[in-house]
Amino acid sequence: MSSLRPRRSCLYMPGANAKALDKARTLPADTLIFDLEDAVAPEAKADARDAIVATMAAGGYGKREIVIRANALSTPWGHDDVKAAAIAAPDGVLFPKIDSAADIEAADKALRDAGAPPSTAIWVMIETPKSILNIGEIARAAERTRLTTFVMGTNDLAKDMRAAQTPGREAFLAALSLTVIAGRAYGLTLIDGVYNDIPNTEGFEAICRQGLALGFDGKTLIHPSQIETCNAVFAPPPEEVAWARGVIAAFADPANAGKGVLKVDGKMTELLHLEQAKRVVAVAEAIEAMGAS
Ligand code: COA
Ligand code: MG
Repeated sequence: MSSLRPRRSCLYMPGANAKALDKARTLPADTLIFDLEDAVAPEAKADARDAIVATMAAGGYGKREIVIRANALSTPWGHDDVKAAAIAAPDGVLFPKIDSAADIEAADKALRDAGAPPSTAIWVMIETPKSILNIGEIARAAERTRLTTFVMGTNDLAKDMRAAQTPGREAFLAALSLTVIAGRAYGLTLIDGVYNDIPNTEGFEAICRQGLALGFDGKTLIHPSQIETCNAVFAPPPEEVAWARGVIAAFADPANAGKGVLKVDGKMTELLHLEQAKRVVAVAEAIEAMGAS
């Protein structure tokens, strides 16, 4: 079940930073995002593109999922980025500055035209005010394209909204929740935005917890020091896994055959909880398998 692949920690690194691309082979991030966009200067784009293709050909990334962030198709680099991605065949190409469902269709066509394998999914940045206004239609494009994942681009959104990035993210709660609602309606994976203040570990943990509480599956990161906390926050805690195993065992008990509602550990437990419990166990097992790499 690909939707249950762990994506707790999705670490960005500039495609122009050879040291970071190499270091990523040993970092415990679930997903690596090799960036060609905001973190790469215009004059370094072509070399960064070549470096990403070469590093992926060299391999050594184990079970880590690999995503390439392309430049927008409207820029001078976008289509060349997609062509390079078609050769490198990452798990996903992350398209920035998406405004509408038509942009998703354009991304889908660009991947197809470039001959990218069907296994390369479309991830998109949700980072423009228009994308928030059009979020339902954008999410629905997943029904007819390779779109699988939304990534919040909170820095760009803050810039365009002219809103302040406060610790509680008050200015962005509407956008974050709308994105979660739209994404869940169409079965997408949802990744929260980055936290810029690298030394502030307390603030980082709090914002990871907020993202989890809002419904996100994981978070994008900018520095290796953020991985461990993020992995811990976005993994189901041991007591939740124990609860889930208990619920599964209770419904599997022949004495409860055919029942839709039970009492497990004193709590009313319905078939919807069984569904939730199965998901929790599947996620925990997927995380365990990641660690065994
Ligand atoms: N991915 C992989 N490795 C990284 C990394 C990243 N995002 N950020 C830092 N590292 C590595 C460094 O290369 C260094 O490796 P070393 O110990 O082998 O020398 C180590 O981690 C410590 O790095 P540090 O000195 O603390 O950071 P820095 O000053 O080299 O870099 C940033 C700071 C912010 C420039 C860097 O973390 C970065 O580029 N982050 C990602 C930015 C990005 O991709 N933004 C786009 C999306 S918002
Ligand atoms: Mg950006």
